[in-house]
Amino acid sequence: MRWHRKARENTDGRGVHRGVGRISNKPARCPGGCTGETNMGRDGYSLEHVDIEVNHRCNLACRHCSARAAKGRAPEEMSVAQIKGILSQAKELGLCKVGLTGGEPLRDVAKLEEVARFCLDVLDVPIHTHTNGTLVTEEHCKPGGVLALFEAVSVTFLGANAEKHDYMTRVKGSFDGTFRGAETCAQAGLPLSCYFIPTHGLCGGFKGLAQQLKGVGVTRIRAMALAPSGRARPIFGETAPTRDELREFEKDLLTIADGLGMNIEAGNCTRLSMPGLAVLRGHEQCMSGVNRVHINSKGDVFPCTAASGVRELRLGNVRKNGTLLNDLWRTSPQLEKIRRVRRQQLPSCAECTLRPKCQHGCTVRNCGTMPEAMRQLCPLVSGTS
Ligand SMILES: C[S@@+](CC[C@H](N)C(=O)[O-])C[C@H]1O[C@@H](n2cnc3c(N)ncnc32)[C@H](O)[C@@H]1O
Ligand code: SF4
Ligand code: SF4
Repeated sequence: MRWHRKARENTDGRGVHRGVGRISNKPARCPGGCTGETNMGRDGYSLEHVDIEVNHRCNLACRHCSARAAKGRAPEEMSVAQIKGILSQAKELGLCKVGLTGGEPLRDVAKLEEVARFCLDVLDVPIHTHTNGTLVTEEHCKPGGVLALFEAVSVTFLGANAEKHDYMTRVKGSFDGTFRGAETCAQAGLPLSCYFIPTHGLCGGFKGLAQQLKGVGVTRIRAMALAPSGRARPIFGETAPTRDELREFEKDLLTIADGLGMNIEAGNCTRLSMPGLAVLRGHEQCMSGVNRVHINSKGDVFPCTAASGVRELRLGNVRKNGTLLNDLWRTSPQLEKIRRVRRQQLPSCAECTLRPKCQHGCTVRNCGTMPEAMRQLCPLVSGTS
């Protein structure tokens, strides 16, 4: 069995209570057992997972969009050839999983398909994708269609009904389109997860939505915490859900798992605020800059998807000036600092009150919400703005 198939089968589970374990000093391995042993980066770090934005354009205009996606094509958007070149370099560093995201990937199906086929046919790595669902057609989901190429597809809901979801996307009718997209994927038997992102004032009603989704064949839901990145950052204070809202949302998800028998999952960053949710295999601890990077449509590289658009955590740009992903992964001073924070080796952290959050929580969230006074002291953000 190919490792990625095994990894996918291992992601099932619901209602499992597990503590957020201590961060290990050892670089982690691919969930499917990929060793990445041939091309280890500096300090033995292997770049196993790359999420890359294949385009910048989107038909929606979400308030929280980490990619700051927009309607028009961005002049600096990377070409297919540039994306292939970058992924080929990543393969040399241990690549064994690629996420193709955007913008809205289905806004440019030809580009998505060309990159997807390159990953599968040339690099021999499995791929997953994220879509807002509104542009999904039956044609995309049929055998031979572009979405049938992916081992996982996500469709995201930002509210449980049209009023709430459309408020976040700023496009009327988007909820109906997203629901139809999820239904089309589910009916075609694609490996679909519906993502739920709770935000302030819009967290309620997800139980009802889950029931509706189950009715059309959806079996898997993933909770996603809002990150203070991209367009979400300036509005994070008023958009992030309160602790009470999160508790209610988490309770709803556990009820969905028990009552509806649906798989409910969450990654490490999400479980920091909702620890009762089952951990997604491969996301048991923070892997930001440890085995992964996120590359935006313009070639800016970040240590993980949650960090995308957090300017302080930008590692460099692989589109311009001939910078190689290889060099960034091995020699980026910012990446070196991030890894040392996780290994508890950065002396400046010793006295910092945010240290527990950085070391066993989320550096991205710390960097994105840090009070001004702290910014001078923190080596991750000082001198970067
Ligand atoms: C940037 S979008 C691109 C793909 C596609 N257009 C979509 O919306 O799914 C990828 C995923 O990141 C999520 N996302 C965007 N901004 C985010 C933020 N600030 N915090 C957490 N998730 C975010 C989206 O909702 C979506 O699930
Ligand atoms: S989150 Fe996705 S759907 Fe929303 S604006 Fe960004 S790219 Fe578009
Ligand atoms: S906020 Fe900065 S100084 Fe404080 S623990 Fe995190 S990385 Fe270290």
